[in-house]
Amino acid sequence: MDSKRRIITASLIAAPLAGALGTFSALISQPAFAQQKKYRFGFSQVTTVEPWRVQFNKDMKAEAAKHPEVELIIADAGDRTDKQNADMENFITQKMDAIFISPKESAGLTGVVEKAFKAGIPVFVLDREVNGEQFTQFIGGDNVQIGEEAGNFIVKLTGGPGKAQGNLVEIWGGFGAQPAHDRHDGADKAIAKEKGIKRVGERVDCDWKQDKAYDYMKTVLRVQPKIDVVYAHNDPMAYGAYLAAKDAGREKNIKFVGIDGLPQEGATWVEQGLLAGTFMYPTPGAEGIRQSLKVLHGDKVPKKVTLPTQGIFADNAKQYIASH
Ligand code: FRU
Repeated sequence: MDSKRRIITASLIAAPLAGALGTFSALISQPAFAQQKKYRFGFSQVTTVEPWRVQFNKDMKAEAAKHPEVELIIADAGDRTDKQNADMENFITQKMDAIFISPKESAGLTGVVEKAFKAGIPVFVLDREVNGEQFTQFIGGDNVQIGEEAGNFIVKLTGGPGKAQGNLVEIWGGFGAQPAHDRHDGADKAIAKEKGIKRVGERVDCDWKQDKAYDYMKTVLRVQPKIDVVYAHNDPMAYGAYLAAKDAGREKNIKFVGIDGLPQEGATWVEQGLLAGTFMYPTPGAEGIRQSLKVLHGDKVPKKVTLPTQGIFADNAKQYIASH
């Protein structure tokens, strides 16, 4: 951008010297210019109201800052599919060198991802999937595995395999987002086998939000005299449920399990004994920048990059926080 602007300025100044100008702009637009050129990256982030999203942007900006040739532009969709479509269209029009998207939902954003990809722009889908294969790469955690680890932990908390007993409330993330379904399905692999675990409460879309989880939990507490475990699809919702239980004076009888494991958030709540456990869900921001540079340098990259997880419990939370 800067270099392009410099050419325009140079041509204006040099306009009267028409002959010399030709040589001059030819000189600066040759390989030297190509090397200086910045890559312009557009990142369509679904929202920035959740702490995990704030961390995600921070990680991505920090990695981008290591590469002076990269200019990163982040658009916040305000948690709205229509705004996110508009942000993506804008990046396509601007002919970004690479586009990143962490979508609100799969169905409503598959089309615009395809459009960007078909326009020849490398497109990186981060954290939440879109449908089909019309993108360069997907980077995210294995939510089925995370769910399964959470399910095994819930079985352990309630008495162990074959003996588990208790009433379970599951608090769902957005129904339109694949991680919610994967976290449910994964956990169910462990939980469905346990005849002593009874699911209570309606299946409600709490959209990953602490306040929605609080309200939902409040209604479940009102009708269910016995709740033993809450499994929330992320830590803010686990914490919202904890607060609702606390306000009802019942938090000591319930174990809360979440996902994300941010050191200053979920992991700290585990350390404080508010949550029984959580699972690290690394943000894909930094990896996204690294992978896109590989693509722009002509390297082959896999269609999918899976980020690791780790359980965070009472016995390792302190050490986890110290090392992250
Ligand atoms: C943030 C978030 C995280 C969760 C992820 C799932 O928006 O809700 O808490 O792990 O999205 O896509």
